[in-house]
Amino acid sequence: MIRKFRLDDEYAVYDICLRTSSNPDGFDDPQLVGHVYAGPYLRFSPQFASVVDEGTVLGYIVGTPDTREFEARCREEWWPMLRKRYPDDPADPKTPDERMIRIIHHFLPAPEEIVKDHPSHLHINLLDGTRGKGYGRALIERLTDELIEAGSPGLHFGVDPANTNALAFYRAVGFAELRRDTHTVWMGRRF
Ligand SMILES: CC(C)(COP(=O)(O)OP(=O)(O)OC[C@H]1O[C@@H](n2cnc3c(N)ncnc32)[C@H](O)[C@@H]1OP(=O)(O)O)[C@@H](O)C(=O)NCCC(=O)NCCS
Repeated sequence: MIRKFRLDDEYAVYDICLRTSSNPDGFDDPQLVGHVYAGPYLRFSPQFASVVDEGTVLGYIVGTPDTREFEARCREEWWPMLRKRYPDDPADPKTPDERMIRIIHHFLPAPEEIVKDHPSHLHINLLDGTRGKGYGRALIERLTDELIEAGSPGLHFGVDPANTNALAFYRAVGFAELRRDTHTVWMGRRF
């Protein structure tokens, strides 16, 4: 079943975030990916987080209605906390840990061209055996309804251009490509 995120799901969400990353076994610190791509959403907009729960948590979606407001809160309250915990800013990051720490020290806001018409954004991840069963579509539709209810006019996200499965999924559930950079395909949908 799909249900709202609860505080006691936080560890599972962090773990799924790591296990669905491009290098799940490559991190010395298993929390780093979650600190960047899951933690701030659970902290600042938990009401827009949902999980797939089949006895254990197998997947999640997190999101925020207002990307700029979210980025501002991260700038003021989230990244400073993590910079204290991971003080060394690696100028030339080589390991997966160093690459995440670099992001913590130099987080880039989403492009204005994307955010102006699509102010909300999301991240979705399902563990391997949970894919292809309709959970992804159900999670996206649930979050979309919540964002529309909250008055959002549109939703975006960035996808790794190599993640062709995710790109096909997003197209199948109604999103269009907005812009393609070297490292990111920006996709979105107006409501
Ligand atoms: C991407 C992901 C969220 C999709 O969720 P899912 O539960 O597997 O997708 P669903 O079963 O709900 O599929 C929804 C639709 O997308 C289509 N779809 C999904 N993957 C597809 C693929 N690789 N190629 C073509 N269509 C695809 C399905 O056919 C389905 O279409 P339909 O509803 O019209 O029949 C999930 O596979 C996942 O977590 N992958 C690993 C992590 C990841 O890549 N996250 C996204 C990072 S940007």
